[in-house]
Amino acid sequence: MDLGKLIQERIRDIPDYPKQGVMFKDITPLLADHVAFAGVVDAVVNHHGRGTIDKIVGIEARGFILAAPVAYHFGAGFVPVRKKGKLPSATDAETYDLEYGSETIEIHLDAFDPGDRVLIVDDVLATGGTARAAAELVRRGGGEVVGLSVLLELSFLHGRDKLGNLDVHSLVTV
Ligand code: PRP
Ligand code: MG
Repeated sequence: MDLGKLIQERIRDIPDYPKQGVMFKDITPLLADHVAFAGVVDAVVNHHGRGTIDKIVGIEARGFILAAPVAYHFGAGFVPVRKKGKLPSATDAETYDLEYGSETIEIHLDAFDPGDRVLIVDDVLATGGTARAAAELVRRGGGEVVGLSVLLELSFLHGRDKLGNLDVHSLVTV
């Protein structure tokens, strides 16, 4: 089956979660399907090619689930971007607006070697605030942002427009 079609079939819409008016994209059915999960990881790695990336940045929490196997299959290191207060060593931080509320994310100051080629991985690109903040943290930390890979892009929220000339790779766009 076509991967895009499989992904769409395995993402469940939950209306009014976590608050009224928000349609939550639940990826747990996709993660539970080993064919879909492996297909997603392979598609991200194949898009860029093994050996082209030094570090994969995963964004807590749902981004971690995809980013860790992607890092393994790239032969790249894994760097966590975490919600405020979760990283133990010295950090840099960015605050941004979400579709529902606001959030601060952090990264360790020593996460990158100078010039590291970095791919950011998350599950969903919605308003783009999370991805933009993550890209900013990577650049300030000395990494070169090669791109952003997401499972699902919600194009009606125009997140891409916030990301300048960043190479955005979405497996499915709705
Ligand atoms: C969701 C999703 C993306 C982000 C996308 O994360 O996993 O990270 O929102 O939204 P944006 O493009 O509008 O910034 P959320 O902050 O809800 O938390 P979670 O991953 O910890 O569940
Ligand atoms: Mg998230």
